[in-house]
Amino acid sequence: MKYQAIIFDLDGVICFTDEYHYLAWKQMADSLGVYFDRQINNRLRGVSRMASLEIVLERYSGPALSDERKVELATMKNDIYRESLAQMSPADLSDEVRDTLNGLRERGLKLAIGSSSKNTPFILGQLGLGSFFDAVSDGNNITRSKPDPEVFLKAAEMLGLEPSVCLVVEDAVSGAEAGHAGGFDVACVGDAARAGSGDYNMQSVAELLDITAG
Ligand code: BG6
Ligand code: MG
Repeated sequence: MKYQAIIFDLDGVICFTDEYHYLAWKQMADSLGVYFDRQINNRLRGVSRMASLEIVLERYSGPALSDERKVELATMKNDIYRESLAQMSPADLSDEVRDTLNGLRERGLKLAIGSSSKNTPFILGQLGLGSFFDAVSDGNNITRSKPDPEVFLKAAEMLGLEPSVCLVVEDAVSGAEAGHAGGFDVACVGDAARAGSGDYNMQSVAELLDITAG
């Protein structure tokens, strides 16, 4: 087997927080009178919070916003988002994701998270995965967001493994680019799979059990 570890993106791969992100950005954008829709929300996948804010503000045409005001707006969005996250529980982890994670671990693979989100520890806790992964690299330990490979390189380093033996799993095109830029093979689901961004383009994460078989 080529791979010794699987490094998972979180939002859109392990859990489905897209709608929560959308509703929170929408409420923030509405408060500024800025147009925002699901298509724009799709562009925020894998992108850090402050970089996401800049994308949302592309449609803003009011007086210039200071850096302090931008931080305030990002905080407003995050507070709304975390109210949704607080409602999540282990029941929000799909059977498919749970069975896949357990199946991969039974094969002796190391399992890690590589996410741009600063809310990663909170989300993992809500899902009952607070101490499940062998390594967690997230928005709190990086300085450059995807498509920079930093978050995945840090995850591999935490595992003590070379990128060539780790498979990255992503739903965002920017995330797949980050994986490739770091020298990882990438398996995609969702948007990134539809765009053909992966070395493997999967219908769902359960296919990881086939990819890592034998
Ligand atoms: C990524 C999401 O996982 O995390 C992005 O795909 C999000 O949409 C980014 O902007 C940062 O998230 P957070 O939780 O730190 O605001
Ligand atoms: Mg994602």
